[in-house]
Amino acid sequence: MANVAVVGSQWGDEGKGKIVDWLSSRADVVVRFQGGHNAGHTLVINGVTYKLSLLPSGVVRPGKLSVIGNGVVVDPWALLREIETLRGQGVEITPETLVVAENCSLILPLHSAVDKAREEARGVNKIGTTGRGIGPAYEDKVARRAIRLCDLADEAVLADKVEQLLFHHNALLRGLGAAELDGAELLAQLKDVAPKILPYAGVVWHRLDEAKRQGKRILFEGAQGAMLDVDHGTYPFVTSSNTVAGNAAAGSGMGPGAVGYVLGITKAYTTRVGSGPFPTELLDAVGEKIGERGREFGTVTGRKRRCGWFDAVMVRQAIKTGGITGIALTKLDVLDGFEELKVCTGYKLDGQVIQHLPAGQTAQAAVEPVYETFEGWSESTRGARSWADLPATAIKYIRRIEELIEAPVTLLSTSPERDDTILMKDPFQD
Ligand code: IMP
Repeated sequence: MANVAVVGSQWGDEGKGKIVDWLSSRADVVVRFQGGHNAGHTLVINGVTYKLSLLPSGVVRPGKLSVIGNGVVVDPWALLREIETLRGQGVEITPETLVVAENCSLILPLHSAVDKAREEARGVNKIGTTGRGIGPAYEDKVARRAIRLCDLADEAVLADKVEQLLFHHNALLRGLGAAELDGAELLAQLKDVAPKILPYAGVVWHRLDEAKRQGKRILFEGAQGAMLDVDHGTYPFVTSSNTVAGNAAAGSGMGPGAVGYVLGITKAYTTRVGSGPFPTELLDAVGEKIGERGREFGTVTGRKRRCGWFDAVMVRQAIKTGGITGIALTKLDVLDGFEELKVCTGYKLDGQVIQHLPAGQTAQAAVEPVYETFEGWSESTRGARSWADLPATAIKYIRRIEELIEAPVTLLSTSPERDDTILMKDPFQD
């Protein structure tokens, strides 16, 4: 029985929520391993909508263990708010059902303040972050001055770490002519939140090792997408963590062998929120139409998403760098009724056609897509539950995508409804 990792293979917002929910209903343990409350996963179960940012999707289903791994940056106040909101919807969340890695780094109020201030200072060069303090928190983590969840249980260490942390941040603020931060206030805030969050702290690597030995099914739930990966994405227009499945092991305290099947969630077209290169972006009526039909607005920030044609070069790259075994193709129905469709099969750069997205910022901004054109379909694919329900031209579109990205379509999602899914292969049975 393989464990499964679910990751986005584009720029996030690929429709992970529904698929993660379906897989989590079949898993025993659901683990978040990177990112923070910048993610937004919407689940619709029995007509009730749940919006999750930091909590693993399994949390809404009784009997599952939800785990927030060490690779996640945790805003304790945001986590407690999310827990309260879900409790208000009748979801039971207790230290028995939710474990947060004691060695995860915390997002503090100063991190979101720095995030927002820096974005403002960048002006037109802004990254378009979610403003949740993700980047600044990861910076403090790798700089070895972060406050970790376990520090909240150790008053002496906590006071010392707050002092060291503010020594750094206040030096920067002084340099910028901005007001300095008050260590006593931060310490008081942390002491206040400690007893509320500490009951959830646990030794995640150990809990996961136990689960593995008991033959439990583990689902690793990725956030964002491969092209937002801090190494493999469109740097610097990326998030601050490794979003690829390789990080599921390090971000949860399991070895690389723990991650079995890697399912890459892939939209039948492309979207992106925030700034940065987007070779197949459509700044015309077609892009508008895709955005309207696909209801492309951010779950976390409400921002309008940029839309474009399917980019097979980029997805193939994500499949290689992310070790994706098969893809779940989502939102095919949004393309219903288009007379013709395009898929990017290469990039033109300096008079040559290349088959990968280059790493350099200038080259990434300069590449021009080379398109293959497809005949569209007038029939509705919405709600299709078998291949026989799909028009021949839609099948042709999917088959050609499989060829171009060098990976099979394992699952096809044809509407937000859970049963509107065509399953070719069960990832847990790999
Ligand atoms: P940050 O993660 O808030 O630092 O934002 C960095 C970039 O990642 C920005 O372009 C965000 O719009 C993007 N981003 C972060 N989280 C998500 C997500 O869950 N879906 C899509 N884009 C995201």
